Amino acid sequence: MLKQNTILLILSVFLFSCATNKMVDSDMKDKQLVNDKENPIFYTYFPGLPIGVAVNTWEYFDESNKYNKLMKQFNGFVYENSMKMDAMQPTEGNFEFGNAKKLIKYAKDNNSVVRGHTLLWHNQYPNWFFKDIDGKDVSKDVLLKRIERHIKTIVTELKGEVKYWDVVNEVLEENGTLRNSKYLEIVGSEEYIAKAFQWAHESDPSAKLFINDYSICFSGAKQDGMYNLVKKLLAKGVPIHGVGLQSHINMSHPNVEDMRKTIKRFASLGLEVQVTELDISVYRSSSEKKMDITTDILLEQAERYRSLFEMFKEEAQNGNLTMVTLWGLSDDKTWLNDFPVKGRG
Ligand code: XIL
Repeated sequence: MLKQNTILLILSVFLFSCATNKMVDSDMKDKQLVNDKENPIFYTYFPGLPIGVAVNTWEYFDESNKYNKLMKQFNGFVYENSMKMDAMQPTEGNFEFGNAKKLIKYAKDNNSVVRGHTLLWHNQYPNWFFKDIDGKDVSKDVLLKRIERHIKTIVTELKGEVKYWDVVNEVLEENGTLRNSKYLEIVGSEEYIAKAFQWAHESDPSAKLFINDYSICFSGAKQDGMYNLVKKLLAKGVPIHGVGLQSHINMSHPNVEDMRKTIKRFASLGLEVQVTELDISVYRSSSEKKMDITTDILLEQAERYRSLFEMFKEEAQNGNLTMVTLWGLSDDKTWLNDFPVKGRG
C-alpha cells in the first residue's frame, strides 16, 4: 500500500484537492484514481497545458498492461530511451523508425502531443559516431556531416508528427560553460549547436526546437550560462524556439518560486519554456542510505507536486510555460531506482 506509485499520488492530490491521511489510507486502487472517460484527466485540471510522460517499453501501449490505464491519463508522450541516437541510427546510415512511428500513432489516436528526445547528446550515442574505421576521432568536417545526416534524416522522416524536438541535450557544464564533450572537442565551438538547430529547422519548419538541460531550473551559474548561450544564438538568428528544464529535483530544492523565476526568465527571451523531465527524488544526495518510504514521506512528496503544479498552471495561464513532462510512469519503473545509486529505489 505504501509503495504506491508517484503518479497515482499526484492524481489523487488533484482529485481530492488536498493531501490528507485519509487519501493515503483509503484504498487507492487504480480504478478509483483513473478516469475511465475518454479525456485524459489532465485535460480537466490543466486546460491548455499538455502533461506528458516518458515511456520506456512497448508493454505500456498494450491495453491489457496495468500501466496502460495510467498512460491514458496523459496527453503528451516522449520516449525515455527509444528515440536517442543509438536507438535511431545504431549503425551508420541505418535508421530505425519503427518505435518512433508507433509512439506517434499512439499519441495521435489519443489526441496527444509528442516530444522527440533527443537528436544530439553526449550519452547514448552509437559507438561509430565519433570514430573513423581505424578507431580514431573523425575530423570536424566528418562529424558535422554525420550530425547533419542524423538530424535531417530523422526530422524529415517524422516531419509534422513531432511537435517538440530536443535538438541538443545537456551541452553545458555545471559552471555554465560549454560541456567538454566529443562534439566540442572535435568541432571546437558552439557551431555544432547552431548548425544542429538550423538543420532541424530546415527539415521541419513547423517543429518547435528545444535546448534541454538539467540544473538550469534553478538560479546559478549553469542557468546563467544557458541564458547567455541562448541569447547569443538567438542574436545570430539560430532557430531556437524553447528551453527545456529537465527538472530532476528533490523534496526541497529548488523552491517553487525559484522555478517560477526561471520559467519567467527564459520566457522573457521570447522562448517557449517546458518542464521536460520532472521527477522528485525523496533523497537529497547520493550519500543518503536507502530508507523506508513512509506515508509521511509520500504525503510530503505529494504536497511538493501539488505546489509545483499550481505554479505551473499559473505560468501556463501567463503564457510562460507550454508543457510539463514527468520522467516515468511510476515509482517501480523510474530510472531513479538505479541513479545515482544502484538499487536504492
Ligand atoms: C535516462 C533514462 O531515464 C534511463 O533509462 C537511461 O538508462 C539513461 O537516461 N537526462 C536525460 C534523459 O535527458 O535522457 C535521461 O534518461 C535522464 C537524464
